[in-house]
Amino acid sequence: MNLGLEGKTFLVTGAASGMGASATEILLAAGANVAACDRDKERLAAMSNGSAMLPIPVDIAEQDQVMAAAAACRDRFGCIDAVLHFAAILDRHTIDELTPEIWDRVMNVNLRGTYLVVQAVLPHMREQGGGRIVLTASDSARMGSLVSGPAYAASKGGVIALTHTLALYLGPSNITVNAVCPGLTMTGMSEGWSQDFIAKIASRTPLGRLAQPDEVARVAIFLGSDAANFVTGEVVEVNGGIHFD
Ligand SMILES: NC(=O)c1ccc[n+]([C@@H]2O[C@H](COP(=O)([O-])OP(=O)(O)OC[C@H]3O[C@@H](n4cnc5c(N)ncnc54)[C@H](O)[C@@H]3O)[C@@H](O)[C@H]2O)c1
Repeated sequence: MNLGLEGKTFLVTGAASGMGASATEILLAAGANVAACDRDKERLAAMSNGSAMLPIPVDIAEQDQVMAAAAACRDRFGCIDAVLHFAAILDRHTIDELTPEIWDRVMNVNLRGTYLVVQAVLPHMREQGGGRIVLTASDSARMGSLVSGPAYAASKGGVIALTHTLALYLGPSNITVNAVCPGLTMTGMSEGWSQDFIAKIASRTPLGRLAQPDEVARVAIFLGSDAANFVTGEVVEVNGGIHFD
């Protein structure tokens, strides 16, 4: 099956690392245009390759920057067919260690950032008659986690709630809203995990290992493609079977 990616325009956040970088690479190879958004200007600049990729340095927690990023994508490529929103930060502080400042920072990037990205692309998607929005949750919101702290897990629980509510609200505009829900994945976010910890999680995972970033990126791309036109409100586990409904 051809996902019909050639000539489509994807706005990808978190594009400078991990799943977002992998999605960007796969999309460009398939002939799609990518507005690659990330706060890491240096990595974005190093990735820049050809006219099909527009690097956009942006902090997704800042509304004016997110609005400008969506407008820049629309101006350059003429539309925003799909958004793959991966950008987020991990926070491992326990409930004993958390401060209101840390809590707010995690919520600002992970949850407010998600709301801002969705709101920024809506006018463009409505104008063009529809679109695909793919958010990123986390197994920590469904299973609980002692690796990622409560602020991170709560922010990702908010992403799941947003996915369901936005799918209901935006369906009549032909805009689908889905989320990928990764388990532990070998990316920049996983740096610092001990080999013992990785082995322990792998041993509890039916597929016997942790995910590679492209294995999550490909599911997100599918949800952002025309092949998933009639899928909305879904939170798709990409976790090797360590948890399922
Ligand atoms: N890696 C895992 O084990 C795992 C598990 C579950 C869910 N997730 C989720 O998957 C998504 C992708 O994570 P990853 O593992 O590829 O992480 P990563 O750290 O490799 O990449 C995240 C990217 O987001 C960017 N970013 C962070 N804050 C930003 C901001 N304010 N504005 C713009 N860009 C910002 C970073 O610069 C980085 O390039 C995240 O939403 C994460 O919460 C990851």
